[in-house]
Amino acid sequence: MNKIPVIAIDGSSSSGKSTLSKYISNYLKWHLLDSGIFYRSLALVLLENQIKYEPNSYEYEKKIASIALNLNITCIKKYDILITMLNNKNITNDINTPNISELASILATYPQVRYNLLKKQRNFRQYPGLIANGRDMGSVVFPDAKVKIFLDANIKIRAKRRILQLKKKGFFIRNQDIIKEIKKRDNRDTERLISPLKPTKNALIIDSSNISIEQIIDTTLQYICHRFNIKYKKNK
Ligand code: DC
Repeated sequence: MNKIPVIAIDGSSSSGKSTLSKYISNYLKWHLLDSGIFYRSLALVLLENQIKYEPNSYEYEKKIASIALNLNITCIKKYDILITMLNNKNITNDINTPNISELASILATYPQVRYNLLKKQRNFRQYPGLIANGRDMGSVVFPDAKVKIFLDANIKIRAKRRILQLKKKGFFIRNQDIIKEIKKRDNRDTERLISPLKPTKNALIIDSSNISIEQIIDTTLQYICHRFNIKYKKNK
């Protein structure tokens, strides 16, 4: 039994899980895993090496699974920024583009890819504890996580957040295009055969559509502190 505590935060894209995880990780001073970076980094390697997507090809799955197995990814957290390094190169900005999001969600449907990334994600489980966010943190990667949180929000709100996020990075995308993109990714994430996005029975489900991030942080931290028997101090 692994005694290092884990808090799993799963949810759909732009549901607020990255912001929430970062805040909790700063509050508790625990490690942080943003598991989407693995699928995004794999997408980047394939695009950079001009490896063309070949649907329904066993050879393609074998090739990308082997690349996934050899990904050398490390993360550095500096205050509010999570820096992703691939072979010691900072790729944080390169993996946050719409192209990468699209390919990452396709690659995430391949069972061999997911299997080969499991150990790499579990290696982030270090003392004093880990906050892990993604789609299958509570269901597959860390099923023994003591606290599981599932975040959701309606698609219009998520689209607004995504547009703002992308705007900050210099991408200007129309609302209807973002909604289409999010719907496509939602379908892939929830309908894939392996590790689909869905809340586990014991997850605290939060709909973040109509509540501020401050309220979500407050509710979640109260719940976490209660579960871990820690005294909750607001604005620590
Ligand atoms: O969280 P994100 O947007 O960075 O994730 C990018 C893609 O990676 C997402 O469309 C689905 C996939 N993903 C996954 O399947 N499982 C995870 N634990 C994390 C991400």
